[in-house]
Amino acid sequence: MKRNKEFDIIVWGASGFTGRLVVAYLFQNYGVNDDLKWAMAGRNKQKLNQVRLEVADNSVPIIIADCNDEVSLKEMIIRTKVICTTVGPYAIYGSKLVSSCVNHGTDYCDLSGEVQWMRKMIDQHHETAKINGVKIVHTCGFDSIPSDMGVYFTQRESLAQTGQLANKIQMRVAGIRGGISGGTYASLTKVMEQSFHDKEVYKVLTNPYGLNPKEKFEGDDVRDLNSIKYDEVSKSWIGPFVMAGINTKVVRRSNALSGYIYGKDFRYDEATISGKGLKGRIKGYLTALLLLIMTAKPGSFLKKIANKILPKPGEGPAKEQREKGFYNLKFYTTLQDGSRALGKVTGDMDPGYGSTSKMLGEAAVCLAKDNLSNVSGVLTPSIAMGDFLLKRLENRAGLSFSFNKI
Ligand SMILES: NC(=O)c1ccc[n+]([C@@H]2O[C@H](COP(=O)([O-])OP(=O)(O)OC[C@H]3O[C@@H](n4cnc5c(N)ncnc54)[C@H](OP(=O)(O)O)[C@@H]3O)[C@@H](O)[C@H]2O)c1
Repeated sequence: MKRNKEFDIIVWGASGFTGRLVVAYLFQNYGVNDDLKWAMAGRNKQKLNQVRLEVADNSVPIIIADCNDEVSLKEMIIRTKVICTTVGPYAIYGSKLVSSCVNHGTDYCDLSGEVQWMRKMIDQHHETAKINGVKIVHTCGFDSIPSDMGVYFTQRESLAQTGQLANKIQMRVAGIRGGISGGTYASLTKVMEQSFHDKEVYKVLTNPYGLNPKEKFEGDDVRDLNSIKYDEVSKSWIGPFVMAGINTKVVRRSNALSGYIYGKDFRYDEATISGKGLKGRIKGYLTALLLLIMTAKPGSFLKKIANKILPKPGEGPAKEQREKGFYNLKFYTTLQDGSRALGKVTGDMDPGYGSTSKMLGEAAVCLAKDNLSNVSGVLTPSIAMGDFLLKRLENRAGLSFSFNKI
């Protein structure tokens, strides 16, 4: 079904802030040739032409498809092995594309961090995607590749180097620098709106197993940290991590989909290190305040302030800001015998856009070109692509992974 397609990859949403970066990444790193045949797509030809002029050249074909026009979506997806989409908020624009990919045998990757929408896609499409042999892979950006692949790597190395699995991993954000785009803020706002108006959405968002297969919806993991506290494992003050509500659920879905390869009693959590002493504690409260403003109740005074100061769709951090960005994640690991180890994941640009566009680009190439297992369904990055993706992230996307006994 996936052979003999005109393209390996189509990047849909190429006129948006992140889509443009993915186009630039693919063009600079792969060019357009028989080794990788790809095209850029969107709803507005003029904007696409402009992007092509600025970050690529005329060798990249342009395809027009609008999410409100199902015929245009079908005509686009039957031409390619893989759709790589940055058209978000996904809860508004993404559902018909997923459905079309599942029905027509096209693999799919995106940057969704919209848990409530991914839950819907799992419920509607996981079984059919399995039957049709299609890989639908959400969360191929900063949420949740570093977390999902970081745990995958840490577990793999624990086993290889110590003969034991980790039964607990506590991911701590030890350093991070970057900004936010209007598209990401719009997606976050959509999640918050839906959770305020729909109890079922709220339940999914607050259930640590909200993305697990339905029959595996319960366990001993607790809700993500929502306060400031002293952390024995990192010997620092810690506070909430804005992506934890997505990442921890993705890691747990990976464990469940793999048949509990990390163990049924495996525990995982995430938080942000704010520092030591009084300074660390105060920094923790300031970060939590920022988070509170970004996730404020729709219509509230705080939300109006956030809407004024945060970027609009199409806007995001400037090139210099992206290039100066980085992230440094520590995976404090407790092995089955109680001994300790430390996994680390670092990224060389700002997490949300510079690094994310490379991760998404490599995920798309991995789906199109690598000799992956035939596992299918609505999958996580580690389950869909495992070692193949790890290699690409290290060799091409500026990520590094390490593991040491302590
Ligand atoms: N997981 C992560 O780490 C991560 C990081 C970055 C971004 N994201 C997510 O990625 C998504 C995109 O973010 P962004 O900042 O790039 O957003 P953006 O700049 O607003 O881009 C959105 C794109 O969607 C297109 N679009 C809107 N309506 C459409 C329609 N009806 N049919 C076809 N295309 C349509 C826009 O096309 P026009 O140009 O024609 O309007 C634009 O290309 C968001 O959901 C964001 O949350 C996630």
